[in-house]
Amino acid sequence: MLEIVDDADALAQTLADTVAAEIGNAIATRGHCALALAGGSTPKTAYALLAATPLREGVDWSKVRFFFGDERCVGPDDPQSNYKMAYEALLGPLRIPAEQIFRMRGEDEPANAARDYAALLRSQLGAKPVLDLMMLGMGPDGHTASLFPGSDPLEDDDSLVRAPYVAKFSAYRLTLTPRVINSSRLVAIAAAGSEKAEALAAALEGPRDPLRCPVQIVAPVRGRLLWLVDRAAASGLRKT
Ligand code: 6PG
Repeated sequence: MLEIVDDADALAQTLADTVAAEIGNAIATRGHCALALAGGSTPKTAYALLAATPLREGVDWSKVRFFFGDERCVGPDDPQSNYKMAYEALLGPLRIPAEQIFRMRGEDEPANAARDYAALLRSQLGAKPVLDLMMLGMGPDGHTASLFPGSDPLEDDDSLVRAPYVAKFSAYRLTLTPRVINSSRLVAIAAAGSEKAEALAAALEGPRDPLRCPVQIVAPVRGRLLWLVDRAAASGLRKT
């Protein structure tokens, strides 16, 4: 499903409303919610809306476990850390207890951090982890989480977490694999701004080529996929 909203502010509000509703659905249905947070800047405003009235009061946050879709290989206090961004915008203001937050340890050796996070996912969610809600963004190059163009998407990879070396940043990253992402009950990809227009058009209307456009890997096996974009990001689409 593709939802186009007017601008970045409308996107943030729609994303926040969607996340709050999906958490509520998960809790009503299964008694709890496993939510994977996205990094980058797009979700930041939505996180702040979730941590503020009225959305804050509408969710039983005690039933939510917070995971991460990807992380930079830095410590939790580093300005680059996705955890730091999410903590400052959402987890801290909501006073989420540490035992409900499952951080990727970007400060550890990447391969070890990936292995440890996979073990954590299995311990929390079982051998075949299913997230209730997977939040993702998309870069101007079509990357999502930390699945970047040029690095083998390994779609049939059985691993749950990977530590790819990303040449464009000359740095390692930690990322959930397509297997985990596509096992989610709902994947919400949010993209705003004209700088995303080319990648969005390629993703939705171009030939399937996940090596070049990794976000095309996102195809939930049994779950739902929701694209939330603003008009600027959708400006390259032929069909809207
Ligand atoms: C990250 C994110 C990444 C992000 C996109 C979009 O670690 O940077 O996980 O996948 O979602 O790069 O980033 P913006 O929202 O800042 O455009």
